[in-house]
Amino acid sequence: MNESSETGGHANESFRFVQLSDLHLSYIQAPNPIQLLNKRILGYLSWLRKRRHTHQRWILDLAIEEIRQLKVDHYAITGDLTHIGLKHEFEQVSQWLASVATAESITLIPGNHDLYVNEQWDRSFALWENYMLGDNQKRQHSSNQALTQLNQLYPTVRIRKQVAFIGLSSAFDAPWFRATGKVGEQQLDRLQKLLSSKALDSYCKVLLIHHPLTMTHTPTRKCLLNRDKLINLLTQYPVELVLHGHGHNSCYDSVDSIDNNEIPIIGMSSTSSINQSNNYKAEFLLFDIGKTAQHWIINKQNYTFDKNLKKFIATAQQEFNQSRIC
Ligand SMILES: [Fe+2]
Repeated sequence: MNESSETGGHANESFRFVQLSDLHLSYIQAPNPIQLLNKRILGYLSWLRKRRHTHQRWILDLAIEEIRQLKVDHYAITGDLTHIGLKHEFEQVSQWLASVATAESITLIPGNHDLYVNEQWDRSFALWENYMLGDNQKRQHSSNQALTQLNQLYPTVRIRKQVAFIGLSSAFDAPWFRATGKVGEQQLDRLQKLLSSKALDSYCKVLLIHHPLTMTHTPTRKCLLNRDKLINLLTQYPVELVLHGHGHNSCYDSVDSIDNNEIPIIGMSSTSSINQSNNYKAEFLLFDIGKTAQHWIINKQNYTFDKNLKKFIATAQQEFNQSRIC
């Protein structure tokens, strides 16, 4: 995307971004059988039987077409861009990302499908680093294990106008038949330091994580294992908004901070799904973040895919007023 012609410039100083999730946009090309001698065999069979029919690239293309009309400042992508995290899937996603916008305009966090097994870094996330690194964050390749690298890299911070995107990685090499997530202890320690330092208090803090923080809309086999620790941390050091994917369902929950402010936890459906069941239709979420002297005004607009119209249409809308720390 050409930043000068396609983004920004909203009259009321609001910042506009879009959330996409669970794109599963890659196409698995005849994998080497050796690559499937692990948990990936399950994902590959699931892709052959079902997922390649559920996730349609043309639906994602329609979403991007619609988003371009909306002149967004930024894209936030909350993980699961691949199916089983093979190198050629990472390459396909890289090509797609480059066609959408600059690395400056896309913030990407990993999902569990992107770390289906603990792959080598240079065969996986190294290809997406420019979309993942925080502002001024340097590449550190102390290990070639993806999980180790992700735990060292996150949390990331990307500041865009009045918004601070804080990325977490909840992807880990979960056991067979599990799609659980976990945020590494190092990440939690650094997140606590970051939020308690108040360095981001003049920004609207938007936390991006693939797995949902609560169990309200999530089965046990897909949950965030150490959610209680993260919730406790956010209760003490709140953010203005938490965005996640993973469940492929449009959902809302919240937790209360220690001073009784509600932290919205917003989950979205897959942006590429052909599923037409309620809450599972493909969608993207448009956020406008404005401010008054005392508040952040956060407006969320869902855009839902209508199979008959072959179009994403504006549906549910919600507004949140969050106190600003001035
Ligand atoms: Fe997921």
